[in-house]
Amino acid sequence: MSPGNEDKAMFPTKRLRRLRRTPALRALMNETQVTLDDLIYPIFVEEELDAPAPIESMPGVFRIPESGLTAEVQRIADLGIRAILLFGVSRHKDATGSDSMKDEGLVGRMVRTAKDAAPDILVIADVCFCEFTDHGHCGVIHDGDVDNDATLDNLIEQTLVAARAGVDIIAPSGMMDGTIATLRDALDGEGFTNTPIMAYSTKFASAFYGPFREAAGTTLKGDRKTYQMQPGNRREGLLESIEDEAEGADILMVKPGMPYLDILADIRRETLLPLCVYQVSGEYSMIKFAGQAGALDEDAVMLESLTAFKRAGADLIITYFAPKFAELSQKA
Ligand code: PBG
Repeated sequence: MSPGNEDKAMFPTKRLRRLRRTPALRALMNETQVTLDDLIYPIFVEEELDAPAPIESMPGVFRIPESGLTAEVQRIADLGIRAILLFGVSRHKDATGSDSMKDEGLVGRMVRTAKDAAPDILVIADVCFCEFTDHGHCGVIHDGDVDNDATLDNLIEQTLVAARAGVDIIAPSGMMDGTIATLRDALDGEGFTNTPIMAYSTKFASAFYGPFREAAGTTLKGDRKTYQMQPGNRREGLLESIEDEAEGADILMVKPGMPYLDILADIRRETLLPLCVYQVSGEYSMIKFAGQAGALDEDAVMLESLTAFKRAGADLIITYFAPKFAELSQKA
């Protein structure tokens, strides 16, 4: 009871608002901090392109000509961003994605160019076939479906191309069973014992990847439901990441991000490995377009979404907002 208010009903003796009163109190009580050190920026690199091509469905994101990659990587490094994730936009597609398995193909070239441009930036290769196949699937098709084990053989080839080119981290995104054990063995066998694998360990077949199709120039026929997970499966989400940890993954990942924070929190409780989250193209687009329409404050929503990832258990965040976050941090 508050003094002098004995005639009134009960007053709260516990007041959680006490610690929210001033900016200083709130800063001291803050449990979750996002820093530029946490962020990874995806870059789409297109061969045989003359000038940066805006991606209509992702305002502010461009496909970078291969000839402009050096300048782009230097710009990103100058912003203080520590890691980039490279996606090739190929003009040489075929049934197997053979270009990505050649040392002189786009994967090898872009890794070498990025490493030369800024040796201290971490270059991560998204290892997959959907940007290199004419059917747009993440592997080889046999009998109307992606053939798991034939795709593993090809993943070894693409991984070794990236490793020989000097890549810092390998990030296989195709959701083939046995990927991590296979690639760890292949890397170790060729002497790349220090090249970490960041597994796209729990990846859902998500409609939030929509704008990525335009960004990466993929021409998918059908869907990816026989290899990526169905959105309603929470236990299986945990199982996928536990399995990749057992196979030797160095970093685990949940993708997409915002609609899957429960999955992130589940995995956080079950692993001691670093955990990454991918804020995918559709999540970026929603925030961007809502901001442009004046329905949301883009910067505030961006910061809130990144904070939510860390609160749920992510250590690393792949986000198209990385340059924007860097610019805001420099101003602050
Ligand atoms: C597959 C890959 C995809 C994305 C990253 N790696 C596409 C897919 O799985 O369909 C999507 C990323 C995004 O939407 O931002 N190589």
